[in-house]
Amino acid sequence: MVKALVARSAGADLAVEEIELPRPEPGEVRVRIAAAGVCHSDLSMINGTVRPKFPLVLGHEAAGVVIETGSEVRRVAEGDHVVINWSPACGECAFCQHGEPWLCVTMEGVTSRPRGTLADGTPTHVTLGVGALAEEVVVGEGALVTVSPELPMADAALLGCAVLTGVGAVHNTARVRQGESVAVIGLGGVGLSAVAGAQLAGAERIVAVDISADKEELARTCGATDFLISNPELPQVVHSLTDGLGVNHTFECVGRSDTIRAAWQSTRRGGTCVVVGMGSRDDKISFSALELFHFARTLTSSVYGSADPDRDIPGIASAVLSGSLNLDAIVTHQISLSDVPAAFDRMRHGEGGRSIVLFT
Ligand code: APR
Ligand code: ZN
Ligand code: ZN
Repeated sequence: MVKALVARSAGADLAVEEIELPRPEPGEVRVRIAAAGVCHSDLSMINGTVRPKFPLVLGHEAAGVVIETGSEVRRVAEGDHVVINWSPACGECAFCQHGEPWLCVTMEGVTSRPRGTLADGTPTHVTLGVGALAEEVVVGEGALVTVSPELPMADAALLGCAVLTGVGAVHNTARVRQGESVAVIGLGGVGLSAVAGAQLAGAERIVAVDISADKEELARTCGATDFLISNPELPQVVHSLTDGLGVNHTFECVGRSDTIRAAWQSTRRGGTCVVVGMGSRDDKISFSALELFHFARTLTSSVYGSADPDRDIPGIASAVLSGSLNLDAIVTHQISLSDVPAAFDRMRHGEGGRSIVLFT
């Protein structure tokens, strides 16, 4: 039995419960989790934004050590330090074949299958096929990316979601180039990673935006050159900072129609507006036919940083180890499993950066 943070239903109180995980099947691996982040997508699982199956073990942003391998496992061995990739590519579907592993369709099959049981024998689901807010997980070997033991586990955990998503949105989706200008709206783990990624890409002007003044210092430490509190005049202010043009690229890291709209209007003609946040199906947004034509902007989304995790997680890990990508400002709270509900409360109020559960 291992301890795990379980949601019995949407809106129910969370509890640390004992769960029984299955032995690894062929191609599967048991990982002892060392560090796991509290991501907004976990909150979206329990607040009605998305509708997963319950009971549900939360958590999908994590790193740990391989402790048991099933038969036919080739990618990892016992003792390896691994980052968990919550969107392992099958390599065979139309998207994988087209070089878009982040859109792989096998994901749905992985996430809808229960994994493990609660103490009373009830089968439990695990968030995004992982369920990483737990002492251990059992995942397919394709979900594991080996990293150097020198990489601190808290940083490694972030590489599994926030950092891959934020840095990937900048480097892979928008392909930000040296000297360009960007704006990042929403400065949680994902947005702060986008700011750090923009600095790594050599962006000259990095405008960071949030509703919480708390975030200014964190954003500036990650590389922001300007900080603005979100307000209805945001696009005009961004234009005034950029010779009336708007920024080359905007990254919406909240998941709301009003901030997507603000990001869109803050983007210069011909620029790219990237939706990184995961919003709800009911939150609608509209564009006039004329503005879509006139502004010649690209509106796109970035799912999991448009990343190939097998390529990009090692690349980002090297950038962290060499000091060129500094993640120090992103983690503001190191907590234990029972503190996760308080971390969700901070998240609801826009307080702090990432909270990371450290398992000892
Ligand atoms: N304008 C600007 N910032 C806002 C607004 C707003 N209207 N509303 C919320 N924010 C800020 C919050 O203050 C917080 O700093 O957005 C940030 C969101 O951060 P987190 O809740 O920590 O979320 P994070 O884990 O970074 O994920 C961001 O990406 O992957 C998706 O599902 C995830 O939609 C979520 C988004
Ligand atoms: Zn996440
Ligand atoms: Zn696939």
